[in-house]
Formats: sequence, C-alpha cells, structure tokens
Amino acid sequence: MFAVSKLVIEGGRKLQGELFVHGAKNSALPLLAATLLCNGESELHNCPGLSDVEASVRILRHLGCRVNRQEDVLCVDASSVDRCDIPDQLMREMRSSIVFLGAIAARIGHAKISFPGGCELGPRPIDLHLKALRQMGLHIHEHHGYLDCKADGKLKGAPVALSFPSVGATENILLAAVLAEGTTTITNAAREPEISDLVDFLNKCGARIVETGEGTIVISGVESLHGAVHTVIPDRIAATTYMTAASVTGGNLLLHSVEPAHLGQVVPMFEEAGCMVRCRENELLIQAPQRLRPIKIVRTMPYPGFPTDAQAPVMAMTTLASGTSVFVENIFESRYKHVGELLRLGANIKVEGRVAVVEGVDHLSGAEVEAPDLRGAAALVTAGLAAEGITQVNGLHHLDRGYERLEKSLTAVGAAIKRI
Ligand code: EPZ
Repeated sequence: MFAVSKLVIEGGRKLQGELFVHGAKNSALPLLAATLLCNGESELHNCPGLSDVEASVRILRHLGCRVNRQEDVLCVDASSVDRCDIPDQLMREMRSSIVFLGAIAARIGHAKISFPGGCELGPRPIDLHLKALRQMGLHIHEHHGYLDCKADGKLKGAPVALSFPSVGATENILLAAVLAEGTTTITNAAREPEISDLVDFLNKCGARIVETGEGTIVISGVESLHGAVHTVIPDRIAATTYMTAASVTGGNLLLHSVEPAHLGQVVPMFEEAGCMVRCRENELLIQAPQRLRPIKIVRTMPYPGFPTDAQAPVMAMTTLASGTSVFVENIFESRYKHVGELLRLGANIKVEGRVAVVEGVDHLSGAEVEAPDLRGAAALVTAGLAAEGITQVNGLHHLDRGYERLEKSLTAVGAAIKRI
C-alpha cells in the first residue's frame, strides 16, 4: 500500500460491460472478530482484499490466531488465542476494531484495548457498546486512553435496549452474548444485512441466536463454539458505487454477485434519476439515461432505510442532474467532507447542518482533489469519471479501506483511470 499514491482519471468515457462486486467489508470485519470465539478453524469465502480486512487479520494474529489467505478464502484457527490486548497502533488503524472487544471479553474474560480513534465522520462514540457490555457484567475501566475490561468468570446474559440501532454496538453485544451465561435480548438492534450475516455465521458455529424481526434479537448463551465455513455477503455499498459510475457516464453495467434485496432503498433512487435497473437472482443491470434527473430528497436512515455509506457516491451522481436534489444525513455528525472537493470539480452544493442542496450543473471539470474519507473517496472517483479533462484523486489509503482494486474494475469496463 502506497499511502501517497493517487488516481489519475480522464473523464467522459462511457462505462459498459460486466463487473463482479466483492464481498462486504462491513460483514467481513465483524465475521473476522467472530472467528475469535471458535475453538477451531473457520473458513471465510468471498473475503475482500481490503486494508481494513488486513488490519483485522493483524489483530487476530496478534491475539494468537493462525490466519492464512488463499485467494478470496481466509482461514482462521483460533484454537490457541492467548492474548487479550490490542495495542494502540493496531486500534488506530481501524476504528471498527472496537468490535473485537466483545469477542475478546467473551473468549478470554479480560480485554485491554485503546480507545478507538475518532474518524473523519465526526466523533465516533462507543457509549452504547460500553453501556451494554457493562450490563453483561464486564467491568470496564477507562484510563489513559485505554479500556481495561474484566469479567468475573463468564459474561452474563442481559436484556439490552439500544437507544439507537447502532451497527457496531449490535455486533459487539452479539459477540459478547453467544458464550455468556443465560439469555440476552437486544431490542432496537441494527437490522443491516451484515448483522444477519454475522448471526448466520455464529449459528453455524453452534450459537443459538434468533432474529425475531423488528430489531429484536434473542441470544441463548452456549458453552463453546466450533469453527464453520461461511461466504461473506456481497458489498451493497460497492454495488451502489458501481451504479453511480455507470449513471454519471451515461453507460450501462451488468453487476454480478449482488444481493438485490439489500438495495431496496437504493434502486428506487436510481430509477427516480432516470436509470433503468433490472435485477435477477444475484445480478443487477443498470442503464443510464442521456441526462440524469434530480432526486427530490435522499434521507439516510438505519436499515432498511437509505444507507449513509451510499450518500457520498449518490451525491456525486446528482451533481450532474437536470435539477435540484436534497440530502439529509441523519446518521453521522459530519459526513459532508466530500462536498468541498466536489465544488472544486465545478459542482454546485450548499450544506446547512445535516442538509445538503445539490443544484445540478451541465458538466464538471477535472481538478486535483483530496479524498476526506472512504466513501468521500468513492464519490470523487465517480465525479472524476464524468468530469471533462483530468481529475487527480489523492488520499487513496481511504479508498483502499473499502474498495478492492477499484481502478482495475473500472478500467475493465472502459474507464481511463490509473493509479500512480
Ligand atoms: C458501521 O459503523 C459501518 N462500519 C459504517 O460504515 C456505517 O456507516 C455505519 O455502521 C452505519 O451503517 C462498519 O460496519 C465497520 P453505528 P458503526 O454504530 O458501527 C452513533 C463505511 O464507510 N453511535 O451504527 O460505527 C455514531 O456516532 C463505514 O463502510 C453512538 O452515538 O455505526 C453514529 O452517529 C463508515 N454511540 C451513529 O450512531 C455508540 O456507542 C451510527 O453509528 C455507537 C454509535
């Protein structure tokens, strides 16, 4: 990984052809944490080659797991986990490392991790995680930027009512509850597909988890878990990103390895923008119109609402629409850092708190831009594909966290894009 590499894009090329969508980053990460709970070897198929996945592998190896990768299969043997600390630099590499806390505490009974760094999306508190784990009997002592956690024996099942359907908190509670004594009931749990993927894997390993729908999950603790073989679900945000790339270039793409059921709130937005979208089993065909129409309003919401991770790429698409689109970012404090960079490309966007108003323009003009975060990077690539002339996107370490060889995939369907 070259932190100073950049993408050079010559815009204006219509994207046409077929693409495979890689496995979901936000499923692979909690699944890797879950392998820690297993007395034996697990095999995760369709594991994407992402820097966040590599960071998780480094944490697993640090804790004593044997991990090896063959192509898209990651094998994790957690038989001899013998450590319970995650050192600072490993925690800082990836904020979502917090999801290891529940798994380490459940497996070892003790955990020492540093406070996960903030992140470009504004403060990323973990109060919901800590409150729930304390309810399950984990004593958490915060000092000098470290969380020193200890359980008296096993964690205890408890009724946990989340004040917000936090994805990470739901995952942490699941990972802590599967080996706890007694039953844990989570109400107002996150309902993202990545949660169901984690539940499926854990049940394959011998856990007893029931999703009763409407955000309630009941976990009956068991003595131990064995390993299992599991295939990571497709990445719904990567799929959405490819859809925006086709849309802004007037192109058409056939995406393979897509789960249309996970795009329930996304597909209608592309149809409102004038795209033709056809889904069949695990494929999605998208054809762009000559000129994109605006999207009246995009409100990001917890699943099954419109995903916050798709806000930036979809906004990039609407900058070229024949009218005004409005975005309301309800999930993260400050998830509009890509707006300033889109303005450099000639977009017309005004931000007022959680609301962004996008006035479509006839064309964007290439420029040098700086990726502010992972999905902002994707938005700048999408905009660069449509901008006239050359666009240079810096800060690819953000992009590589969540997209596997994006420039190679886009080149394969006609984009003029290269990493230097
Ligand atoms: C997960 O983050 C995803 N990351 C995010 O994807 C995604 O945007 C987010 O869920 C929402 O879908 C992974 O799965 C690794 P949350 P997470 O806990 O778990 C607040 C990407 O681009 N909150 O649902 O951190 C929090 O500040 C990334 O792939 C608390 O206040 O999301 C935020 O405003 C970005 N206290 C909101 O809830 C807490 O204890 C949603 O957070 C926890 C969260």
